[in-house]
Amino acid sequence: MITSELELFEQLDFQENPLYEQIISDLLEKKYSIIDNFFNHEETAVLRNSLMKKYEEDNFKKAAIGNRTNEMIAKSVRGDFILWINEAEAGEAEKIYFNKINSLVNYLNRTCFMGILNKEFHYAVYPEGTFYKRHLDTFQNDGRRKLSMVCYLNSEDWKPENGGELSIYTEKDGQEEELNIYPLAGRVVIFESQELEHEVKPVKVPRLSITGWLKTR
Ligand code: OGA
Ligand code: MN
Repeated sequence: MITSELELFEQLDFQENPLYEQIISDLLEKKYSIIDNFFNHEETAVLRNSLMKKYEEDNFKKAAIGNRTNEMIAKSVRGDFILWINEAEAGEAEKIYFNKINSLVNYLNRTCFMGILNKEFHYAVYPEGTFYKRHLDTFQNDGRRKLSMVCYLNSEDWKPENGGELSIYTEKDGQEEELNIYPLAGRVVIFESQELEHEVKPVKVPRLSITGWLKTR
């Protein structure tokens, strides 16, 4: 095949994806994107069941906030329990997750030259009464974190009075604005890790999610 034919073939092979295009334009415009039903009810249920099984087997650890902070300080900053997910050892449920994420990552790299080389994800459970104080995800000392992603795995009947909003702080005309996002089942929120401060408001019933980061070199 001569070069021009090969190029044409590659172009034909590329399908524009409206959902991913929406995410990209949101990120460019507002530095965050909210995608409802990124995972459908069935997928969300499978992931939730996998999380609950591992949680009940006692695999989760109290989340930390760096290396030198003691447990008391950590508890006043964040109260969640986490379990890191290794893609190489992904079970059936986690494969559903990684298939979708990888498709998005490939698209971002291909269309925006985003240069995402690494990913890291953990399950998170916020028990009743816990929260995560306002922070920037790079305070974990990881400047390679480019995009933060949170996927909510709560049951379908999550109510506003359950609390646990993700609050993202943005700036508009020099004024700070607080955007409150409910952790609805199947909803994914993506935002610029280096740019947007955010917090998790106190939860009144356990709050389930997968949180992760898309990282550059
Ligand atoms: C985090 C975080 C947000 C959320 O884990 O760093 O900010 O909505 N999570 O769970
Ligand atoms: Mn965070």
